[in-house]
Amino acid sequence: MSTTPSAPSARRIRGVVLHSPGAPLTVTEVDLAPPGPGEVEVAVVAAGVCHSDLHVVRGEWDVPMPVVMGHEGSGVVTALGPDTADSGLAVGDHVVLSWVPACGECRYCLAGRPAACRLVADVVAPLGVLYDGTSRLSTPDGERLHHYLGVSSFADHVVVPVSGAIKVRKDAPLDALALVGCAIATGVGAVRNTAGVEAGATVAVIGCGGVGLSCVQGAKLSGASRIVAVDVVADKLDLALELGATDVVDASATDPVAALRALVPEGLDYVFDAIGKIATTEQAIAALGQGGAAVIVGLPPTGSTARFDPLALAEADQRILGSNYGSVVAQRDIPTLVDLVVGGFLDVESMISARRPLEEAGAALADLDGGHALRQLLITGYRPAAGEAGTYDPAKREG
Ligand SMILES: NC(=O)c1ccc[n+]([C@@H]2O[C@H](COP(=O)([O-])OP(=O)(O)OC[C@H]3O[C@@H](n4cnc5c(N)ncnc54)[C@H](O)[C@@H]3O)[C@@H](O)[C@H]2O)c1
Ligand SMILES: [Zn+2]
Ligand SMILES: [Zn+2]
Repeated sequence: MSTTPSAPSARRIRGVVLHSPGAPLTVTEVDLAPPGPGEVEVAVVAAGVCHSDLHVVRGEWDVPMPVVMGHEGSGVVTALGPDTADSGLAVGDHVVLSWVPACGECRYCLAGRPAACRLVADVVAPLGVLYDGTSRLSTPDGERLHHYLGVSSFADHVVVPVSGAIKVRKDAPLDALALVGCAIATGVGAVRNTAGVEAGATVAVIGCGGVGLSCVQGAKLSGASRIVAVDVVADKLDLALELGATDVVDASATDPVAALRALVPEGLDYVFDAIGKIATTEQAIAALGQGGAAVIVGLPPTGSTARFDPLALAEADQRILGSNYGSVVAQRDIPTLVDLVVGGFLDVESMISARRPLEEAGAALADLDGGHALRQLLITGYRPAAGEAGTYDPAKREG
């Protein structure tokens, strides 16, 4: 089959491959096929390490392996496949990668809910492939490798559907923008899209990692009157206060539900579970007030179940909401979130605890597991063209 003149031949890249749960994460040579119809190739500048990657490494979810890891990232478009003329993308564009590369045609996409895209939920995510059911990734001797969530950003290049590469402004800090692709979209989106937190509402956020701190920042943007941050690590609670929390609860020292009741006696309007342990999900529901909503953002291992009191829930007119990818409309929300970063309304830099080479992916995941690391960026070494923002300069930070 012929390809368009702009399409490159397969290239040898470096990628972090997981062969089985618990196996060492090693950077190896990987072959990346050229982008097919409706796909683009992106040089990854930075990839963020998310707790979801940790779930995969621990074997808590059923993910096809071997897999090139990573689902949070940012980079520069390096090649366009056939049939991409109307994508609005060009070589050299700065993009944030989306882990729900929505098809645009299923009933959920047509209903304006692309974060619930069926093609992604039924094919791309569970099978570790792109839309056509095949992978662009293989070992140099031809063994097939899977994509993770249609992204596989722990690599120096990726091939993704055009809807998985969201064009963003070039004056933004491209490496730090990796976080917009998962933590910020998920956390801010859960507050603004899934829950629709109103000005004046009372909010608690359980778990202050990258996702939870993004919930805190989203609640501040929404004008919440109380934002109670709950965590078990003092440093994370201190940072939550800097990012907009009005109160904190150290769940390692006290019963968090009782502490939340003491702070907001009538119960909370919204509680975000941003860690996804059974205990924290049950705490989120138990801490609600009249008409409150518990928003489940954090994710437990497959097959977990939590308990709640249906009578109390019904009588208090409460809701339990699931939030996948912050219910985002990625093409709309990601550029807006980038505007908020550049304008100083979202602090992304404070959520980055380290920048490390791609080779340290395994160590970065171990540090996240240890509980003290926040978002860590894996830096590939690829740099955008001269004169374009590629690394973040805190001295030039606005706001
Ligand atoms: N729904 C989605 O679309 C979506 C998207 C991305 C991530 N996630 C999930 O969100 C969760 C959080 O991800 P992250 O990257 O922010 O994780 P993280 O590891 O950076 O943060 C988790 C935080 O929870 C805190 N914590 C642990 N146990 C606690 C407890 N008992 N009470 C209070 N706090 C506790 C930790 O100290 C840490 O600060 C994960 O389960 C991840 O898989 C969901
Ligand atoms: Zn994530
Ligand atoms: Zn769809």
